[in-house]
Amino acid sequence: MARIRVLFESGEPERVIEFDPRKAPFQHDGRPGSILDVLLAHGVPLEHACGGNCACTTCQTCFCVGPRTIGT
Ligand code: FES
Repeated sequence: MARIRVLFESGEPERVIEFDPRKAPFQHDGRPGSILDVLLAHGVPLEHACGGNCACTTCQTCFCVGPRTIGT
């Protein structure tokens, strides 16, 4: 099982999503198994104007490992 901890800038309570990457795709937007694919399938409302095709950046997210930010 993989795990994603989601922290919302809006102040909503954080969520921990567990999923089996072998079961991707979870829905039809974004590359199968991408963060967009996983979050949308688990009810996290992530905007995605171009459907996850890397053309618009509306699905941009920040990734952190431990206390350090590693990328967007
Ligand atoms: S939806 Fe992610 S780049 Fe467009």
